[in-house]
Amino acid sequence: MDVSFIKAPQIQQLLDRAAGMNESGGNPRLKAIMRDLTESVMELIVKHDISESEFWLAVKYLADGAGEFGLIVPGTGIEHFLDLYMDAKDAEDGLSGGTPRTIEGPLYVAGAPLVEGNVNLSTDPDEGGQMLHMNGTVKGPDGEPVGNAIVHVWHANSKGWYSHFDPTGEQTPFNNRRRIKLGPDGRYAFHSNQPSGYSVPPQGATDMLMQALGRHGNRPAHVHFFIEAPGYRTLTTQINFGDDPFAADDFAFGTREGLLPVPIRQGDTASIQFDFQLQRAHNAGEEGFSSRARAEAAPLPEAETV
Ligand code: DHB
Ligand code: FE
Repeated sequence: MDVSFIKAPQIQQLLDRAAGMNESGGNPRLKAIMRDLTESVMELIVKHDISESEFWLAVKYLADGAGEFGLIVPGTGIEHFLDLYMDAKDAEDGLSGGTPRTIEGPLYVAGAPLVEGNVNLSTDPDEGGQMLHMNGTVKGPDGEPVGNAIVHVWHANSKGWYSHFDPTGEQTPFNNRRRIKLGPDGRYAFHSNQPSGYSVPPQGATDMLMQALGRHGNRPAHVHFFIEAPGYRTLTTQINFGDDPFAADDFAFGTREGLLPVPIRQGDTASIQFDFQLQRAHNAGEEGFSSRARAEAAPLPEAETV
């Protein structure tokens, strides 16, 4: 059957009614998007001649996998697509330069300890035994140091697990997560137990999808950042270790040119020097975060934040 089947008046009327097009109430933007979404699903059904059984299998997959949507979105390339789309819109508006943005991923937790100086991110011991030292400067578009920035940093442990999301339950809240308050010189420095590459939970919905696509669910070792500062656009980015076996084959498409430093390794220590460059904010909205729903945890008592 040809996809023009969905252009039949009977189906177009069904789409109008289903999206509330004939009703005065509701949200007009949502109606328009729902109508196009439903039509796209119908088009897909006809194009691939999807059977009733296959369709309900997909519904079951989505229902069972709902807890992993945050992982499926990067795995399917859509989170990276959002970055490419935002980059393209920036370019159209004449906004370019600075450290590239890249995916946030699903594993940020709000409320990490706010600390200053050369900080240790790791509360827990880690049998991996390797240390990471990272430092550099947060600069603005003209190379000026950015004062009063807050660097949110988070990464996995040597098993590839993130605190708060660790199925072994072994990690202290906010292990390998901090917010670092910078001084007027824009310099930051931290050390931590070195992260290993991440892989999606075995046998989970994302893993099943990757296997069915003949892919894997691995990411290179990486460190995530949000950088916020008054007058500048909040940057969402991450560095991925340039010497990791998955550096060029990241299942979540989070690796980007300019974000793949190769650590200098000496004994048990890996060192990365990396400067960030922010863009200037053009309105108050750009200084803030997207309104994506994020995990939150109770702040730790003061004494535990050092
Ligand atoms: C995923 C995990 C990450 O650590 C990350 O940074 C991005 C995506 C994921 O499981 O999809
Ligand atoms: Fe990550």
